[in-house]
Amino acid sequence: MTTSQPQPPSTEQAAVPATLRAVVTGASSGIGAATVRRLRAQGWDVVAFARRADLLDALAAETGAHPVVGDVTDEADVARLVREAEARGPVHAVLNIAGFASGTDPIDASDLDRWRAMFETNVLGTVRVTKAFLPAIRRAGFGTVLVLTSTAGHDAYSGGSGYVATKHAQAAVADTLRLELNGEPVRVLEIAPGMVRTEGFSLTRFDGDQARADAVYEGVENPLTADDVADVVAFAVTRPQHVAIDTLVLRPVAQSSTTLLARGPLVTRTDRG
Ligand SMILES: NC(=O)c1ccc[n+]([C@@H]2O[C@H](COP(=O)([O-])OP(=O)(O)OC[C@H]3O[C@@H](n4cnc5c(N)ncnc54)[C@H](OP(=O)(O)O)[C@@H]3O)[C@@H](O)[C@H]2O)c1
Repeated sequence: MTTSQPQPPSTEQAAVPATLRAVVTGASSGIGAATVRRLRAQGWDVVAFARRADLLDALAAETGAHPVVGDVTDEADVARLVREAEARGPVHAVLNIAGFASGTDPIDASDLDRWRAMFETNVLGTVRVTKAFLPAIRRAGFGTVLVLTSTAGHDAYSGGSGYVATKHAQAAVADTLRLELNGEPVRVLEIAPGMVRTEGFSLTRFDGDQARADAVYEGVENPLTADDVADVVAFAVTRPQHVAIDTLVLRPVAQSSTTLLARGPLVTRTDRG
């Protein structure tokens, strides 16, 4: 998939800004960091937001993104993010990528603290950030809200626990917002990846247990990488403004569905003609 230069509105908008600007949450690692790299490489001004200052600083030094350290669950941090982003100029896109999974407990053994933490970041964080940036996007004159959900936002799986519930909720937020923004030049995009091998996702889910994290990907030929997903995210965001990719699902070829995963090499079947 190739991406192009920043795409302004395709219709006859009077003033097309020379620089398009995006805010990326969850930018310190994985899919968010890869997205920052992609958008910067395509000439976007990028404001990168996450809690780990050291990682954000390194990414800023590497890419020229503007780092803002903060937490999507913190109202004051998000308000500061809006101020710092708009101080650089109009904001045309907000990409909600911050999120995590915690545990695989079945529902009948749910740890409600894990659920609460996931809902606070994944769902309420997305709503908080989106709500905070919509006035800025309106001031910019047009824009994009992107929600990075998951195939877990469309299908349940055993042990998906609160994570599946939060991703379904995020997808519902995107669907609802798309309806509510009808008539405005603001599109709402949902990107839903399947299995992505990032440095943090499974490690966080299993509370830092590297062996359990590694086992998730064991034998799987080519799980998606963070850059695979960032490629698709950047593609969606850089389409002409009138093109809205409402929901895009991407998976590794080895994963035919949320619950059907091939482990071992992918081989063609000569016995089937
Ligand atoms: N990996 C997969 O298989 C997969 C599949 C589908 C969807 N996803 C989704 O992709 C997104 C990124 O995950 P990833 O795989 O790239 O994992 P990751 O490497 O662990 O990245 C998670 C990012 O979210 C940030 N974050 C977490 N809580 C935050 C908070 N309260 N405030 C601000 N930032 C916060 C983290 O930064 P700090 O810790 O520095 O704050 C980090 O930058 C998540 O929404 C995840 O649900 C992942």
